Amino acid sequence: MGKYNVLILGSGGREHTLAWKISQSDLLNELFIAPGNAGTMEVGKNIEINVNDFKAIAEFCIQRSIHLVLVGPEEPLVKGICNYFELEPSLSEIMIIGPGKEGASLEGSKDFAKQFMNRHNIPTASYGTFSRDTVDQAILFLEKLNPPFVLKADGLAAGKGVIICEELDSAISGLKEMLLGKKFGAASELVVIEEFLKGIELSVFALLDGESYVLLPEAKDYKRVGEGDTGPNTGGMGSVSPVPFADKAFMKKVEDRIIAPTVRGLKSEGIKYCGFIFAGLMNVGGDPYVIEYNVRLGDPETEVVLPRIKSDFLELLILAAKGKVSKYEIQIDDEVAACVMLVSGGYPGDYEKGEEIMIKGSPEGSLLFHAGTTMDESTNKILTSGGRVLAVISKGRTLSSAMEKSYLAIEQIHFDRMFFRRDIGMDLLSK
Ligand code: AMP
Ligand code: GLY
Repeated sequence: MGKYNVLILGSGGREHTLAWKISQSDLLNELFIAPGNAGTMEVGKNIEINVNDFKAIAEFCIQRSIHLVLVGPEEPLVKGICNYFELEPSLSEIMIIGPGKEGASLEGSKDFAKQFMNRHNIPTASYGTFSRDTVDQAILFLEKLNPPFVLKADGLAAGKGVIICEELDSAISGLKEMLLGKKFGAASELVVIEEFLKGIELSVFALLDGESYVLLPEAKDYKRVGEGDTGPNTGGMGSVSPVPFADKAFMKKVEDRIIAPTVRGLKSEGIKYCGFIFAGLMNVGGDPYVIEYNVRLGDPETEVVLPRIKSDFLELLILAAKGKVSKYEIQIDDEVAACVMLVSGGYPGDYEKGEEIMIKGSPEGSLLFHAGTTMDESTNKILTSGGRVLAVISKGRTLSSAMEKSYLAIEQIHFDRMFFRRDIGMDLLSK
């Protein structure tokens, strides 16, 4: 293999982690991140292009002879960035990691994902899909379910499109707000109502090459803002990998019942898919069920998954683009990785931006990935620019030693109204 110019699209902790990992590859020539953050500029070159501006991305790729584009977030995938590249002759030689529009519907439409799972016998909660014309049937459907009630906007809603209600009355009013009041705009023109699954969640990732796949380490993320899994949902307040209950027997079930049938299903339906699949799973009494598919890597799961991969990640991406991952033996580090997110006061509600971030020293043995940060060029100061600001990751022989290191490292970091959960991984320790 020669040397490759790589463009990563996105600006979060996931993208800094990807950039950090790819920057270590011997196969790399130049690395660009669009638009990136204050962390990605330490390992590559930030480019001021919006991830949904396909024309500007295409022009940049031609101008800088980009060989491989890695799409971080879901939005450009659901909007068809891969189809755009495929249809334009001057771009068709460029390798792009991510599914086309149809494959991306696994994340872009909950109804599409549910139908797909039913067609391929992939275990998931039973469900019904309803529109504004079928509100009455939706209410009848709700009345037959046991609480809690799970309502999901069909389309992308920035991670906010799921409502879980204990009471039938609040479920019915939530349903009406979504379907009739357009609570999530076009995303809630259809609503999926599903059976509540009781168990522990985990995230499983695979890289697909169209024919075959490579399984990456699994992870667990902590979605609620408050300790003890309380308060509103966030993008993710921390993560750990591996997940203690995901032993060999459980992961075999995940591969046999979920990942392999998903890959076969995509192929049998003629959906070309070269990219990541992220299965959000519920472990229900030892059996995995799909809660949702995402068509990208998770954030903050990537921050603990990638540091455990010993293999050359760029080599793996190139092999995926060439349809050659079937014999690839990925090397995984046995150590445990724990990530704690440092977030802005007020998140996931309103929060201030532009707070100066003080990092006293680089925490020994820990990694620091930037999420919502920006570099103020005039003062050379690093400022907050998002709700999730920094991810602190440590590895250790045990989960508790990894967590201890991360919490120690956080003592070196400060910005006004910074907060974080102090119980990441704790639920897994007592098991
Ligand atoms: P999603 O956006 O589909 O990941 O849903 C957000 C969160 O809602 C998930 O991470 C779960 O914690 C929860 N959830 C979604 N669907 C179900 C379900 N059928 N049963 C229990 N919890 C669910
Ligand atoms: N951490 C969950 C997600 O990336 O959607």
